[in-house]
Amino acid sequence: MPAPIVEARAGANIALVKYWGKRDARLNLPAAGSISITLSGLETRTRLHELQDDAETDELLVNGEQLPVGRVSAVLDLIRNLAGGGPFFRVDSDNNFPTGAGLASSASGFAALVMAADQALDLGLSKSRLSELARRGSGSAARSVFGGFVEMRLGSIDDGSDAVAEPLANAEHWPLKVVVAITATEPKSVSSTDGMNRTMQSSPYYPAWVATVAADLDQARRAISERNFELLADVSEFSALKMHASALAARPGLLYWNPATLACMHAVRELRAAGCGVFFTVDAGPQVKAICLPDSCSRVAESLAEIPGVARVLICDLGPGAEVVN
Ligand code: PMV
Repeated sequence: MPAPIVEARAGANIALVKYWGKRDARLNLPAAGSISITLSGLETRTRLHELQDDAETDELLVNGEQLPVGRVSAVLDLIRNLAGGGPFFRVDSDNNFPTGAGLASSASGFAALVMAADQALDLGLSKSRLSELARRGSGSAARSVFGGFVEMRLGSIDDGSDAVAEPLANAEHWPLKVVVAITATEPKSVSSTDGMNRTMQSSPYYPAWVATVAADLDQARRAISERNFELLADVSEFSALKMHASALAARPGLLYWNPATLACMHAVRELRAAGCGVFFTVDAGPQVKAICLPDSCSRVAESLAEIPGVARVLICDLGPGAEVVN
């Protein structure tokens, strides 16, 4: 393989106010805003290698395995267009997430990709533009461009140029910890995109979901700025359960949880009632993410690790945004 011309890294992110539903599928425009935290420790590193002139398409390797280039090439095309053209690339991407952990890698993957492509084509795009481009690959990827606490804006312009993420506070503002309880290692049953579409098309609760996100964003913004853990716990569990309630009411209903998922949620509530600074969130899969105050983290990790069905726990800090590393 020729030497890479650039390498970039990006961390995974976890939404506290969830993104669930699109107002434009082609541009990947969200139906509502969202707020997330970017993690360190769970990251993608992406190297771009320039292919020979006779190459006819990009190539994609993820953890050494050749995969279809689909959305990766579509995002690279957008960036090549901005540069007035450019070569095809071999995209060599590694996730350090434990294999089979069932954690979404598209957010960190597309954030690292746009960062690397910007550098490779010498574009010098702003982080806001990079966030817009990452969004075209995966809605949540727009947030992984930034570190710490991040808000994805709903935007109002038809071309999506203002549907971008922006930083709310850096990781040092409030150094929370995240314990991820891995409750299943097989691939998830219904992808986020398919799950969102089914919810939008068939759940009677979807309009209520869309109508109530703005108030959740207000509360989460305030909780983060005041470092008010109770306020953040309240809105984050509300948003996660409300997202799942809308998905459960789709036809057929989307059941992302397994018995261990539910046991972890109960355990987190019991720990909080006993004075531990912790709350849960769950995405379109069975893993439970427990967000903790630093002094509660080891107790939470030990408790969740003991639950039958929990294969392992991972402990993460909040981390920086996407960056070029070479
Ligand atoms: O970025 P996508 O299309 O994989 O959707 C992410 C959806 C959730 O993870 C369930 C919620 C979120 O805001 O990250």
